[in-house]
Amino acid sequence: MPRYFIWTIGCQMNKAESKRIASYLDSIGYQASAAFQGANLVVLNTCVVRQSAEDKVLGTLSLLKGLKKEHTGLSILVTGCFVDSNTEELKRRFPHVDFFFKAGAYSELIDWIQEQGISTREQGINFPKPSPSPCALVPIIQGCNNFCSYCIVPYRRGREVSRPLKEIVCEVEMLAKQGTKEITLLGQNVNSYGHDLPTNPDLADLLTELNSIENISRIRFLTNHPKDLSQKLIGAMASLDKVCEHVELPVQAGDDDILRAMKRGYSVEQYRKLVLAIRHCIPQLSLSTDIIVGFPGETEEQFGHTFSLLEEMRFDVVHVAVYSPRPRTIAWRKYKDSVSLEVKKQRFNKIEQLQTNIATEINSIYQGKIVEILVEGEKKGKWYGRTRNDKLVFSQGGNDCSGQLIEVKIEKFSPWALQGKVVN
Ligand code: SAH
Ligand code: SF4
Ligand code: F3S
Repeated sequence: MPRYFIWTIGCQMNKAESKRIASYLDSIGYQASAAFQGANLVVLNTCVVRQSAEDKVLGTLSLLKGLKKEHTGLSILVTGCFVDSNTEELKRRFPHVDFFFKAGAYSELIDWIQEQGISTREQGINFPKPSPSPCALVPIIQGCNNFCSYCIVPYRRGREVSRPLKEIVCEVEMLAKQGTKEITLLGQNVNSYGHDLPTNPDLADLLTELNSIENISRIRFLTNHPKDLSQKLIGAMASLDKVCEHVELPVQAGDDDILRAMKRGYSVEQYRKLVLAIRHCIPQLSLSTDIIVGFPGETEEQFGHTFSLLEEMRFDVVHVAVYSPRPRTIAWRKYKDSVSLEVKKQRFNKIEQLQTNIATEINSIYQGKIVEILVEGEKKGKWYGRTRNDKLVFSQGGNDCSGQLIEVKIEKFSPWALQGKVVN
């Protein structure tokens, strides 16, 4: 029986796509392998958002070159954002790779597999397969039209294409029948969902439909774009009982000149007003953001504006990254990568330190409180899961409660997680 191994890095979109590839391979009789060794078919699902991610891909490709010398029967497939339009050039650079296919191009994968004639069972395609996890990732829009000046994603994932609303509803109904309790809708910018569909449904319309699906208890979505998150969506979030009190709203910088150079399409004041509006309508809200430090030309003063915005906003989670020039992007063409690595690292550490303090304070509020979590699994003898507002909780006690909503009394907290005991 042929065995496969899928290596995945990058965002939730890649995780969702790897699951889908695994489902397909399972459906035609492949078995999962625990590592590269022992697999006949290896799929690398890649990310290139920063040079550090691309370096990991290059490292893994060179590791596999050695492995392929030992096992001539090994097939290596590469997908994800490492794959650009010039596959001829990729084939020349990496002759040990059998096949490159663009992110999300399953039909190309299926064609390639069928051409090899190595499947053991022809069952046709069967998406999605029963998923053992109570939480499922559901892509709703592919690609991105925004061209933020630092970002490579639009060059690798192409323009926005929304999935028809009915198709998404059908998928979620099927997932619900298979035991899924929580869904996370995915897109590079979920707020632009539907603009390219015939009847122009939007994310609020989609959430309204999904909210009425029986056995789904929770609905999440990411990522939002501050220039596109509408009042209508805020209203839907506040009124739909299954939509969770959590928003990912990347600000990237707290300085208007930097935001303009990043081509983000909003000012700090507009961002501030938006957060106030969401917090006003959804008091239990937890808020996450992304920050880039060391964008070309970022002065100490401009960095200071980002720092004070974080002090003011008090985000629950901040994903901070050091600016990395990416080929073909506007910033790469237009600006010199002028902030030294040393200064970038200093700024990175300052934000991490500030955020550790803020998150500790925010999480301390949960001490002694009872929270509800959806149990995703067990780790080191503890159940773990998330609250509706996305706090990671580890809990002791109780019987096998995987996939169930349980109540936990919080006894300990850290900046990253809460800990407690199952109540009754
Ligand atoms: N569509 C999402 C995710 C984009 S990539 C969004 O708009 O937020 C995820 C994060 O990586 C971005 O939010 C940004 O903070 C970071 N990022 C993207 N390009 C980068 C670059 N060239 N250097 C450093 N960080 C980058
Ligand atoms: Fe990149 Fe901006 Fe699109 Fe996000 S919205 S994927 S940061 S171009
Ligand atoms: Fe990486 Fe592509 Fe996602 S560059 S972050 S895998 S969209």
